[in-house]
Amino acid sequence: MKQLIFNSSNLKETQTFAKKIASCLNKGDIVFFSGPIGAGKTIMVKEIAKFFGVKDKITSASFSLMKKYFGTKADLYHIDLFRLEEGEMFNLGFEEMLEEETSLILAEWPAAAADFFPKNRLEIEIVLQKEDKRKIILKANTLAYQKMLEKLAKKIKR
Ligand SMILES: Nc1ncnc2c1ncn2[C@@H]1O[C@H](COP(=O)(O)OP(=O)(O)OP(=O)(O)O)[C@@H](O)[C@H]1O
Ligand SMILES: [Mg+2]
Repeated sequence: MKQLIFNSSNLKETQTFAKKIASCLNKGDIVFFSGPIGAGKTIMVKEIAKFFGVKDKITSASFSLMKKYFGTKADLYHIDLFRLEEGEMFNLGFEEMLEEETSLILAEWPAAAADFFPKNRLEIEIVLQKEDKRKIILKANTLAYQKMLEKLAKKIKR
């Protein structure tokens, strides 16, 4: 496993970091966002959506569980499983979504359905710290995302 840790001091820094993450992502990629309520998961999703040319406003997906957005560079599925109840998973059209391979999949609160997704994914965990500070931990378990993190690390250094 490879990790990259980014310490954010404020909202702006998280947004800038998310934009850099976006620039290292491709169609078909899957990104998990975990961390407590108000950590900044949706903030990051919005920034990534903007990068991929999504013009529609990203709204909460926790009631619908899944929303699709069309972007100029890639389409995007925003998933929020905060309210997922056991057994609900198979009525959502996840299979079709995963077969598409042309959309980006960004999932908040993925834990309840983690086994349902392919192992080849980027996992982001946001840890709340004092006031506006956040520790953002990116974990890559596969070669593809380990390479992605190497690319991202170079962009952060600049
Ligand atoms: N360093 C920071 N990074 C990200 N967000 C921050 C930071 N500091 C303060 N914030 C604030 O924290 C909030 C994060 O909200 P957001 O909706 O992204 O949380 P979330 O993790 O998606 O929560 P939920 O689990 O309810 O969906 C925003 O109001 C944002 O302005
Ligand atoms: Mg959210």
